[in-house]
Amino acid sequence: TSGGGAGGGMSRIVVVSNRVPVPQGNAGQAGGLAVALLGLMQRRGGLWFGWSGAVAEAASPPNLVQRSGVGYATIDLTEAEHRGYYTGYSNGVLWPMLHGLPHLMSFRRPDLDTYRRVNRRFADALVPMLRQDDRIWVHDYHLLSLPAALRQRGVLGPTGFYLHVPFPAADAAAVAPGIRGLVQDVLACDLLGFQTASDRENFAATAIGFAGAVRTGDEMLELGGRPVRLGVFPAEIAAPEFAATAAAQMQAEPARLLARSLREQALLLGVDRLDPTKGIPERLEAFRRVAARRPPRSLAMLQIAAPSREDVAAYKRLRQEIDTAAGAINSELGEPDWLPLRLLARPQARDTVAGFMRLARVGVVTPLRDGMNLVAKEYVAAQDPADPGVLVLSRFAGAAAQLTSALLVNPHDAEGMAEAICAALDMPLAERRARWQDAWAAIAETSPERWGEEFLRALSPEALDRLPVAGT
Ligand code: ADP
Ligand code: F6P
Repeated sequence: TSGGGAGGGMSRIVVVSNRVPVPQGNAGQAGGLAVALLGLMQRRGGLWFGWSGAVAEAASPPNLVQRSGVGYATIDLTEAEHRGYYTGYSNGVLWPMLHGLPHLMSFRRPDLDTYRRVNRRFADALVPMLRQDDRIWVHDYHLLSLPAALRQRGVLGPTGFYLHVPFPAADAAAVAPGIRGLVQDVLACDLLGFQTASDRENFAATAIGFAGAVRTGDEMLELGGRPVRLGVFPAEIAAPEFAATAAAQMQAEPARLLARSLREQALLLGVDRLDPTKGIPERLEAFRRVAARRPPRSLAMLQIAAPSREDVAAYKRLRQEIDTAAGAINSELGEPDWLPLRLLARPQARDTVAGFMRLARVGVVTPLRDGMNLVAKEYVAAQDPADPGVLVLSRFAGAAAQLTSALLVNPHDAEGMAEAICAALDMPLAERRARWQDAWAAIAETSPERWGEEFLRALSPEALDRLPVAGT
């Protein structure tokens, strides 16, 4: 712990993530990680390292650009690296396993080797850019091997890892070939952060049961004599800013056009990446049941589904499935002058989405499993406090631990979801206000900056030095 001295807060922050959202004009970034970290880094400065998003013929050294005090260093992936590391092992094995959907896994042994190799390549490219007192913060399931790769290259400084996605029960984690070694690799860091207490406990059980770690305290594990702290840091949004954006958007054209097209129809809204974890087909089935029971022209659902990871087979199949289901709903229940479902398979600007959320009588956020789900928090923030809409939320989203006044549903139960949506549509104003006030109280004081600062404080040399020493 040299250099930074007493004010550990002054050491440089180095963020490493698979995707690096280098600011370019106004393009919206669909994805929780980018949204959460961008503000923090722009305020603090530092270095952000990761994949450029581009696929190139051959590996080349990092490309560095400076934007508002942040250095963005990125490397391209080769076609084979992208296929094995990103499409293959990260999104074809780890993502479904971590979300408890093993039937969507598609494992090829060479993909695991490529995953490990790309993690080592990240370390090789990053290490020459590091300073001795940097605090390194690695993000998400693409980079589980990176902490070990950094240690192997002599990096001794504070290194943290945050998992944005859930972690399943030990037996469910064990279905991913290679997970044992990856859990050992990630335990090479000093601090591991999770969205919820249950993710942390599940990870600890896996580390102990399959990776040889021992528990040395409530929040402490040890592997090979090295202590690791496990913390819970639920991801947050900038709620007051989002609320102001949503209110301002009522005057903007997209919200005005949408409002005009609705006339007296109550709007139900879904906003997701087009991802198998988001429960979109199940949600559409619930909506079909609601629409079949209500008078034509009394309601409309807008589902915005931004295409994501389109090279992964399960995502291609999902796109087809959703298109087919949406067509069936409209052909079965539509009228010459009215279609119940509006499906957009493309992202919308973040501000526009905020306005749509404020117009929606019901926010339908029903992932099968989700680390946090920021959309749920955004929907709450976007409401008009005098006349708020109702959040229908999956109990399997991390956000359900905080937004307990939402109508919590089981996303596998279409009928239960349909009943909750009907209850939301019929809910009296007083109950809507009471539920909304509870939800707002849970998010109003939080911000992504606060979330990040809390993690970074726990990663400061001072906080780490206070940890119980191995063996005590
Ligand atoms: P994930 O990280 O799995 O994508 P989250 O709900 O945590 O899920 O975060 C998604 C972020 O991306 C939110 O800020 C949300 O507003 C944004 N987003 C998701 N889908 C869309 C979309 N279809 N269009 C525009 N923004 C989107
Ligand atoms: O939150 C999960 C996550 O993988 C984030 O890391 C990422 O920002 C988002 O989903 C989008 O996914 P991708 O980077 O694969 O497009």
